[in-house]
Amino acid sequence: MRRRTAASKGRHQKKRRDLAASGEVIHKTMTDKKITFKIKRQDKPGSPSYWQNFQVAYKPFANIISCLMEIQRNPTTKAGKTVAPVTWDCNCLEEVCGSCTMVINGKVRQACTALVDNLEQPIALEPMTKFPVVRDLQVNRTRMFENLKKVKAWIDIDGSHDIGEGAIMPDSDRAKRYVMSECMTCGCCLEACPQFSLNNSFMGAATFNQVRLFNLHPAGSMNKEERLDAVMGEGGITDCGNAQVCVEVCPKNIPLTESIADIGRQTSWQFIKNLLVK
Ligand code: SF4
Ligand code: SF4
Ligand code: FES
Repeated sequence: MRRRTAASKGRHQKKRRDLAASGEVIHKTMTDKKITFKIKRQDKPGSPSYWQNFQVAYKPFANIISCLMEIQRNPTTKAGKTVAPVTWDCNCLEEVCGSCTMVINGKVRQACTALVDNLEQPIALEPMTKFPVVRDLQVNRTRMFENLKKVKAWIDIDGSHDIGEGAIMPDSDRAKRYVMSECMTCGCCLEACPQFSLNNSFMGAATFNQVRLFNLHPAGSMNKEERLDAVMGEGGITDCGNAQVCVEVCPKNIPLTESIADIGRQTSWQFIKNLLVK
């Protein structure tokens, strides 16, 4: 067994004291450091909005949702006033459900994947502006889901279980569809789109992409004409100004402008077909 000399014992104790001191410094720095938020609040649908500032203790790798949880636990403004807890939506916490979408430092994105370390302070949080506000950072995205119903964004297989196997899909179509299927109805593309507003009926890029997705499926293509007729109606593809901002903000990198161009071609053929049939 190795024996410690008095000198090495002393060095060892000093090292321990130094380590403890540095640990205290790190701990103190972490607790002293604050993250400042500027949050746009609204008490109920249609009521005026107002800003409130909050501060939470810094934690490395914190995301916006974890900070909002801190604020919810202690809803006290930076000025020391106790207020109603801030509300927001979230679910998956891994950029899959789209429900935590909000405007962070002026950019529409998901709060669960927005890391505080990468954001300038004060961090400004606002609800999306193209959807009705429910409360604080929560918005009502029903319009997106209603649009999916209008274009039958599903495959009608009721009653088809006994007619044998479905058609085989080429691998190239499968690969194309996989990317398109990643849409999480987050609303980023609609928030950024200059044509989409609270007061019009424009469907927007996410819906056109879903039409392309289901029209490309061998079984889904059986309802292709119904989908195309829907996007040729009010708020449809002809209202797209082709500004192409949608594709830049999509967190899933869905080739939205390709989908818009493809649906434009499909609707042109459908238009000619409708003229010939009538
Ligand atoms: S191309 Fe422009 S107008 Fe069309 S959906 Fe995208 S952002 Fe909106
Ligand atoms: S297309 Fe992209 S930006 Fe638009 S709703 Fe889907 S995931 Fe979000
Ligand atoms: S919580 Fe689901 S995307 Fe952020």
